[in-house]
Amino acid sequence: MSQPFRIGIAGLGTVGAGVVKILQKNAESIEKRAGRPIEIVAVSARNKSRDRGVDLSSYDWVDHTPDLAAYEGIDAIVEVIGGSEGTAADLVRASLKNARHVVTANKALLAHDGYELAQLADEKGACLMYEAAVAGGVPIIKALREGLAANEIKSIYGILNGTCNYILTTMRQTGRDFNDVLKEAQAAGYAEADPAFDIDGIDAAHKLCILAAIAFGVKPDFDSLTIEGIRHINSTDIAYATEFGYRIKLLGVARRENGKILQVMEPCLVPIESPMGIIDDVYNAVYVEGDFVETPLFTGKGAGQGPTASSVVADLIDLARGHRLPAFGIPAKELKDAVWADPGETVNSYYLRLMVIDRAGVIADVSAILRDQNISIEGLVQRGRAPGQPVPVIITTHETRHADMAAACDLIEKLDCCVEKPRLMVIEEL
Ligand code: HSE
Repeated sequence: MSQPFRIGIAGLGTVGAGVVKILQKNAESIEKRAGRPIEIVAVSARNKSRDRGVDLSSYDWVDHTPDLAAYEGIDAIVEVIGGSEGTAADLVRASLKNARHVVTANKALLAHDGYELAQLADEKGACLMYEAAVAGGVPIIKALREGLAANEIKSIYGILNGTCNYILTTMRQTGRDFNDVLKEAQAAGYAEADPAFDIDGIDAAHKLCILAAIAFGVKPDFDSLTIEGIRHINSTDIAYATEFGYRIKLLGVARRENGKILQVMEPCLVPIESPMGIIDDVYNAVYVEGDFVETPLFTGKGAGQGPTASSVVADLIDLARGHRLPAFGIPAKELKDAVWADPGETVNSYYLRLMVIDRAGVIADVSAILRDQNISIEGLVQRGRAPGQPVPVIITTHETRHADMAAACDLIEKLDCCVEKPRLMVIEEL
């Protein structure tokens, strides 16, 4: 029998326990696919006595997690602790320095320090694998790095956070409130430890930043991303979006624009029957435009134990059979500093929701501001009558520069009749 591929696992939460389960249950087929057995040698987590629903008795328990980096006789470390700093980051760095392969689900670490880690891995002849970091069980890293490697990628559109997609879907289907549905998602184990990472778009932005690096051959640059989450979306937005033929999705967009690259994570309206409009619940999706492949769509569960652990094990199988790739598909020294496009200069159609007092002259004032910013109205709806009270006014526009839209919103907000911050969302006609 060939030498087993020997691993240490750091972190035995939802994903770590899932990796153990898969390696135990599917050991036979995994061995055939990997060409040798994958053997867990050592595990480490904060709490030794917790019942995780898996038998850990035949593995060494390492009390001090960083010790795994130099643990005798290990080929690869699985890091499923998470976080861009602290134990997880230290372990990944120390393991690569020891020329150990690393398999991680840590999108925050890759988004912030991916370039430095890719350089370290190349220098040491180790591999940094992270299929589980983006879109859970959807093999989008393999697809972009390998399956689509023949193409120049023009754009990527992604629904990359299962919690947000679940919240938006459930709000639409049930009419329930944002906070109520968030609690349910957290209870189901989809959400990040800090819910702000999900609902403020940070988790999805980490993932988009990684995809953009692979797709465009650039250094991951999280700080250049424009990010907006879904906290402010309410049932009025969801109902009007549906009436206009759209769904609201937290959408990541990375695309080439006039020689630059645009990277934005924000809630958008997409047509109901479009590739992104049909993705509901905890499902993620990535829609790619390549110059020869055209427009493949990848979709599946983006969170949860089974899907995420499935991707970790897929990376282990690749490593066990000797498959080696640079972290972002090309040697780290070839990754370029991207020239990022200014989101203010992008041109889109917009959805605008205002809460304004129902009285004579309000629409005239609003439309004068839009006219002065050279914004052409496509549609305008105000229903109901509440003299002297706030009512929603929904406006959709023809194609407009973002900076003009933002300037108009600032001016509308200053009108006496406007009782809430105007809410603006891009309409992406995918
Ligand atoms: N919290 C993430 C999500 C899953 O809801 O999609 C892990 O990335």
